[in-house]
Amino acid sequence: MSPETGPEIVVIGSVNLDLVVTVPALPQPGETVLATSYDEFVGGKGSNQAIAAARLGRDVAFVGRIGDDAAGTAVRAALADEGVDVARLSPTPGEKTGRAFVQVDERAENSIIVASGANSRLSADDVDGAAPCVRDAAVVVAQLEVPLDAVRAAARLAHGTFVFNPAPARRLDPELLGLVDVLVVNQGEFEVVTGEPAAEDAASMRVAVARTDLPGSVVVTLGARGALVWHDGELHSVPAPVVEAVDTTGAGDTFVGALADALARGEALLDAARWAVCAASLSTLSLGATTAMPRSAQVAELRALSAS
Ligand code: RIB
Repeated sequence: MSPETGPEIVVIGSVNLDLVVTVPALPQPGETVLATSYDEFVGGKGSNQAIAAARLGRDVAFVGRIGDDAAGTAVRAALADEGVDVARLSPTPGEKTGRAFVQVDERAENSIIVASGANSRLSADDVDGAAPCVRDAAVVVAQLEVPLDAVRAAARLAHGTFVFNPAPARRLDPELLGLVDVLVVNQGEFEVVTGEPAAEDAASMRVAVARTDLPGSVVVTLGARGALVWHDGELHSVPAPVVEAVDTTGAGDTFVGALADALARGEALLDAARWAVCAASLSTLSLGATTAMPRSAQVAELRALSAS
């Protein structure tokens, strides 16, 4: 990033150390199972989205909080190694860096528990302190593993496209939704955020969007089935290429990071979603949220194959 131009993308969000076990099947309540492997990776929805966009070639700055522990030093170094600007990733005295306890089964399904730690201390003041770069970015991205006040501050400051991935989901007020340019949700999140059932047909989507006063575009991710894009009053289906998934952790984050990458390069939303679906599919090919996040040439190759 050059100091004159600032980052193309600013991500406001969480960073975790992911503690990942693989198991034959996810345990039931009261059950103890033996893991077949254990690994530690950098994770957190915000950090994953920042890394996805940086790996695709964008200048990315991150606004977040780490603890004053060894995990904080490690995740900061991991982000910096990916080329993400970590000048606004602040250490938090007396706090632990966020941790995510991730279980992945043989079908690549996962379940995740997040201990937010320092992520829960990200404030509106932290975001306001990064105002010049948030204001000037082509795309600003946020999720909900950090306090809503910080997200609200980012939404108010953003002059570029504000991409909001409200995960983990909670019901959102019309004021915040009114500031969103592109809402990216899975079907469950759509229902929680809007209070409307997730629809896969244009007529139902039109009703849901009208009832909730969503002013911007909506992208509904469908996992291995791809995504739906609601834009300018029309619903488009974007199928995903078929891949042999090993771990779907971070696939949604790769989708958001790749969508931000394409939007920052000036692509239209539907094309950006086609790009993001290919990037997300590739990201599932190895264990860990960021390990298989692709570079631009890999996405371009898969996209060309999918289009042919
Ligand atoms: O979206 C995947 C991420 O969710 C993981 O990396 C984990 O840290 C949790 O935040």
